[in-house]
Amino acid sequence: MNKAIYPGSFDPVTKGHLDIITRTSKIVDHLTVAILKNPRKIATYTIEDRIEMIEMVTSKFENVDVAYFEGLLIDYALQQDTKIIIKGLRAISDFEFEFQMALANQKLNPDIETLFMMTNSKYSYLSSSIVKEIASMGGDISSLVPPEVHYIIESKFRK
Ligand code: PNS
Repeated sequence: MNKAIYPGSFDPVTKGHLDIITRTSKIVDHLTVAILKNPRKIATYTIEDRIEMIEMVTSKFENVDVAYFEGLLIDYALQQDTKIIIKGLRAISDFEFEFQMALANQKLNPDIETLFMMTNSKYSYLSSSIVKEIASMGGDISSLVPPEVHYIIESKFRK
């Protein structure tokens, strides 16, 4: 069975993430969307909120589940007996860092491969940070996030 992990902060999940999940679910037997800690970021949403949001937007996929792991991605992949890590790539600006992470992970475990999924051009500008910035200033994020979780995302910034 071809199992893959799609790791990220998902703080919060966006339409760009959902596009990668949708396309990956069609080419692997099973996909785990794994929330991991990014030591470079301070999260806005709790782990519980992020799990709930991803569960809501992926409930229609029979071969997708959601998990949270505290530790190295490569250790999680080993624990799950998964050899494929999926990363979304939006722009050249993503490349340098993602390349560094992929090589570091390869060094830690050469049996686990990082595969890059090119973003849908519709979402090449989109990130969780952009969503939060717009929502925090009262802007309309309805075209940026899945409709099921729009309310939860906005509620964080509602006075
Ligand atoms: O959505 P993000 O914030 O770009 O995701 C980054 C994430 C969480 C995938 C990355 O920070 C990560 O893999 N964290 C787990 C710790 C780890 O394995 N770091 C890589 C060592 S090279």
